[in-house]
Amino acid sequence: MDLQVVGDYREMSELGAKIVSETIQEKKNAVLGLATGSTPEGMYARLVEKYRRGDLDFKSVVTFNLDEYVGLAPDHPQSYHYYMKRNLFDHVNLDPVNISIPTSSSDETLEEACRQFDKKIEHAGGIDLQLLGIGVNGHIGFNEPAPYLKTATHLVELAQETIEANSRFFQSKEEVPRKAVTMGLGSIMAADKILLLANGKNKAPAVRDSFSGLVSTETPASLLQLHRKVTIVIDREAASLL
Ligand code: PGA
Repeated sequence: MDLQVVGDYREMSELGAKIVSETIQEKKNAVLGLATGSTPEGMYARLVEKYRRGDLDFKSVVTFNLDEYVGLAPDHPQSYHYYMKRNLFDHVNLDPVNISIPTSSSDETLEEACRQFDKKIEHAGGIDLQLLGIGVNGHIGFNEPAPYLKTATHLVELAQETIEANSRFFQSKEEVPRKAVTMGLGSIMAADKILLLANGKNKAPAVRDSFSGLVSTETPASLLQLHRKVTIVIDREAASLL
């Protein structure tokens, strides 16, 4: 595990963008696993800048998003479809056919949609670089703390801590969807490289529990310690309990 502690959010975003850029520069048709949330926004902004300067070409890049709420239309401002358009897809030359976000319009088709999503990742040759944030409860994607974790893409009930943490993006807590679809630990751990970003004091307990040498499904990010090529880029505040 390569743990990089940087000064602040800006430095975290810059280093994150550098690592993603190197992956794309090394392999034009790189397969990226993308994360949403406030953490990677600065990193996406820097990737867009690099694209505008002509330093990055997304033409052959393939992307798979980690997760999406169930029940929000793709054009809902809090959906992850919308987030990705606003932060990256609308600003770079990614080919829409190369973009996948787990999604399903109804409960009946959900299982099949999840299966197809995993198949698509497999057909793309697996993920070269998986980006991750971390929840205040140590979740990755929407894999919430539990006695068991699922390997495949699946439907989840969001944990109370997640609903509370994400309510800052909605008018009220009641508006936060209760369900989501998330990639499971299988596709995440099968990625060739993983990059996890975290910043801020509120992430310090989750960072401590995840990277202190113990592994537990009650802290899903702790499983990343078992991956051979994981880079953790965190700011001083997130590292303050290590
Ligand atoms: P955040 O979310 O980046 O908005 O803090 C991270 C996560 O829940 O994985």
